[in-house]
Amino acid sequence: MTELEQTLSSGTSNAGAYQDYAIETKSLTKAFSGREAVSDLSLRVPVGSIFGFLGPNGSGKTTTIRMMLGLVSSNKGDITILGQPVEQLNQLARVGVVVEGPGFYPYLSGFDNLQRFAEVSYPAQKRLNPETSKLRRPDILQSLERVGLVGAKDKKYRAYSLGMKQRLSIAAALMWPRDLLVLDEPTNGLDPQGIVEVRELITSLNQEGMTIFVSSHILSEVEMICSHIAIMRDGVLQFQGSVEDFKGSLSKEFSLVTSQVDLAKEILVRFEFIDLHSCKIEGNHLTAQLSSENIEEIVKTLVEQGVGIRSVGLVEPSLEDAFVALTGRSSNVS
Ligand SMILES: Nc1ncnc2c1ncn2[C@@H]1O[C@H](COP(=O)(O)OP(=O)(O)OP(=O)(O)O)[C@@H](O)[C@H]1O
Ligand SMILES: [Mg+2]
Repeated sequence: MTELEQTLSSGTSNAGAYQDYAIETKSLTKAFSGREAVSDLSLRVPVGSIFGFLGPNGSGKTTTIRMMLGLVSSNKGDITILGQPVEQLNQLARVGVVVEGPGFYPYLSGFDNLQRFAEVSYPAQKRLNPETSKLRRPDILQSLERVGLVGAKDKKYRAYSLGMKQRLSIAAALMWPRDLLVLDEPTNGLDPQGIVEVRELITSLNQEGMTIFVSSHILSEVEMICSHIAIMRDGVLQFQGSVEDFKGSLSKEFSLVTSQVDLAKEILVRFEFIDLHSCKIEGNHLTAQLSSENIEEIVKTLVEQGVGIRSVGLVEPSLEDAFVALTGRSSNVS
């Protein structure tokens, strides 16, 4: 067990000060030039969760994160981080943050960059930490080890892959013991391999006991690791809760296979069985949200109107479809 892991698992954290939520916001609101970027947002991030903060571009994720960390003021609302109002700041020492990659020097190695970052941050960390005397200079090698970069520690930053650069940003956020890690779009711009690396790192940090708050505009990139999600649209919360609750809240989709899909669609819409906007056709396969769940009636009507049916049923919608329905946008399009 590394020293940092020991610190996390021993009683030196302030875990006693809060129990249920690592982050709690109430009616948080922020407007820029009279236009609300975040409206009346009440979030509850359970201790120990990997919390996916989802929404398309411009839906207010970064603004929310900046307010949570006291980087931008809110117009209205309260924020509690690790059991204390964010204004009191001293809990922020327990929060690791990757909002925008810290300014790393391309011509320095990963190790030298972290060393420089530590020198700059150490006085601030000491000021922020209520147990100042206990705060030691960080063990840089240990931070690099945690993100799997020890082997590349002497390589120049500019020679790092995007995934390595992102992991170095996370290493910088982990130089001091943290209870909460806030990551703003950590998989942005990464290739599939880099995305897997960051996902695995998030999972392993969470297994050590850290609560992770991670934003993304691509549901599929974080869905499989998150225990909880919140979905934003135009600054307004559309859903928050466990991933299981989210799946349970979705209504089933009508699924039909027929060689006469266009005719079937026309009839289903004409008889008001389906919502036209939710109707998708791929080859011989039609899926749609049902206006009524009366499958027998639907099949009877289709057959009477001359549609041959190969198969018909109700299926669980994919999370991606549900995300699109809630946000009005595909999460894969930026
Ligand atoms: N400093 C600012 N001044 C004016 N408007 C801003 C400012 N910061 C954000 N906004 C606006 O607030 C809205 C929310 O932006 P925000 O950056 O929080 O969204 P986001 O969900 O993080 O998007 P992305 O996925 O692109 O990172 C946008 O309409 C944006 O233009
Ligand atoms: Mg953003």
